[in-house]
Amino acid sequence: MHITVLSGAGLSAESGLGTFRDKDGLWTKYDLAEVATPEGFAADPEKVHSFYNARRKNAADAAFNAAHEALARLKTVFGQRLTLVTQNVDSLLEAAGARDVLHMHGALDRAKCTSCGHRFPALRVMSPQDPCPNCSSPTTRPDIVWFGEYPEHMGEIEQALSRCDLFVAIGTSGQVYPAAGLVDLARESGAQTLEINLEASDISHRFHDARYGPATEVVPNWVQELIG
Ligand code: APR
Ligand code: ZN
Repeated sequence: MHITVLSGAGLSAESGLGTFRDKDGLWTKYDLAEVATPEGFAADPEKVHSFYNARRKNAADAAFNAAHEALARLKTVFGQRLTLVTQNVDSLLEAAGARDVLHMHGALDRAKCTSCGHRFPALRVMSPQDPCPNCSSPTTRPDIVWFGEYPEHMGEIEQALSRCDLFVAIGTSGQVYPAAGLVDLARESGAQTLEINLEASDISHRFHDARYGPATEVVPNWVQELIG
């Protein structure tokens, strides 16, 4: 059986990283146009770097939770038969031991150069003056997929969906595409679909099944049922 899991901010919420669209979510405190778009970065790189520096610090100080751990366990047992896709930019799944996580919206612990394309581990604190380790130009940025940019690993993700028997979305509100459309691709391939979330999302009606509750309770139970 092939499984594809798509996770969102709800997976890391109980690690203290908050979400985007819940009450007091990130987008209730910041204007995403200013801190999560290429235009925002061009207008004020200092502001955008400090936004991601704060998120990078939060993520580095956070501990993985029982849901991350359960998915890492599932990956160990299923290996290539499980594709872990995440919209999250933290590395808590990797901290819990998961390998080959596909970060379709990039990662806080990575940076890239807009001149030569070089990708490298992000400094804890980044600034517009940082020289690229490869070409030395001061043109580095967080390796995050901003609104209006194309997500990463889409070929691999679509490939996994074309052969998956079970698609599970965990902790995502289903408001951002193409992530929110992956459930439809899975259904087109004949997969069963399960939504695991704190409460019904915008795309709940597109799933065959649903399990509601905190990820740290629902995900370990679901994984336990799968691997016994
Ligand atoms: N357990 C399970 N689900 C939870 C929990 C929890 N403890 N807490 C919150 N949730 C659910 C919420 O009910 C909501 O449906 O997680 C979801 C979080 O939704 P969003 O804040 O919209 O986060 P996400 O869906 O990951 O956002 C997608 O939007 O801003 C962009 O790039 C950003 O990757 C992000 C994308
Ligand atoms: Zn460079």
